[in-house]
Amino acid sequence: MKKLLISTGGGDCPGLNAVIRAVVKSAKTAGGWQVWGSREAFNGIMADPPELIKLSPKKTAGIHVRGGTILKTTNRGNPLDFPVQQADGTWEMQDVTGKLMDRIKSLDFDAVINIGGDGSQRISQALYERGLNIIGVPKTIDNDLAATDLTFGFFTAAQIATDCFDKLVTTAESHHRVMIMEVMGRDAGWIALHAAIAGGAEMCLIPEIPFDLKKILKRINKRYVKGKGFMNIVVAEGAKPIGGEVIGQRSIEVGEKHFKLGGVAHYLRYQLEEQGCQQQIRTTTLGHIQRGGTPVAFDRILATAMGVKAFELVNEGQFGRMVSFRNNEIDSVSLVEATKGNKFVSPDHYLVRAARATGMSFGD
Ligand code: F6P
Repeated sequence: MKKLLISTGGGDCPGLNAVIRAVVKSAKTAGGWQVWGSREAFNGIMADPPELIKLSPKKTAGIHVRGGTILKTTNRGNPLDFPVQQADGTWEMQDVTGKLMDRIKSLDFDAVINIGGDGSQRISQALYERGLNIIGVPKTIDNDLAATDLTFGFFTAAQIATDCFDKLVTTAESHHRVMIMEVMGRDAGWIALHAAIAGGAEMCLIPEIPFDLKKILKRINKRYVKGKGFMNIVVAEGAKPIGGEVIGQRSIEVGEKHFKLGGVAHYLRYQLEEQGCQQQIRTTTLGHIQRGGTPVAFDRILATAMGVKAFELVNEGQFGRMVSFRNNEIDSVSLVEATKGNKFVSPDHYLVRAARATGMSFGD
């Protein structure tokens, strides 16, 4: 029997379990493979003793419906830059790929499937360059990987954001308020754009189109004088004013410095009030609610197809590749190609044009 290892790394995403189940089921159908999961990305392989989970069709039955990942995940598991606690209690970042490769070899794994976002796929490429038989499966609710038209989890996040938006509309209307809903989207505004169009927002602010506070204020005033007397705005966490910076806080998690985005909705409220906005403004930040719960049907289907393709590539010995979904077809690209860049909302994207044509403002 050959041994296959699955890892889920980075932030979680609805659909991860559907990929795991699809890999396990295809391996069973093909025969000759034993499938294992590493607990919490590659941390399970690095642990003493290793924390591995044997994955069988029985163990993974029905998990495609569940959000999260049965293997657990972490965004602190980058073996190229791994926090190692020193004798004095401080943390030092170290490259532990040598140890990781030795472990994978000594545990007799023939291949690895690494399910994760751009950071995780850069790790896949680095491990492939060091000789590991690895396949990547893309994952991110942000849908911002350039090498794939879609990632599973995105439509679930967009649906959750739309459902929340719909709820905010009725309360905005009752109170004649301006409601600002902040959604995820560090560098790309896909979730914001989709939720704004689906919900019928008057305004959508995204990282790719910096906003002008004066124009936002003007639009609010117009809406109250000529329009309906309430207003709903969707803002992506990475949106920023023209010439300004993104809003967030520095944080230190287990020795690693991060900049956590969040708070642009409050920033907007404060700035608009400062500039004399006469309307009551309320803010709602959706946060991790967008990453939780049951994946929508499309995400379960895409994740299943991607899991099947990942196992196919493993079985054919085509390593150093990432599964992708392009032109309505499941395909694969080299990890080099996969990690080249991100996919942003271009200002002339058909959805931006559709949004503008139906009266939505981007605050520009
Ligand atoms: O990359 C996906 C994402 O959802 C971003 O939009 C967001 O900034 C980030 O994850 C938050 O991740 P965490 O809180 O897990 O570090």
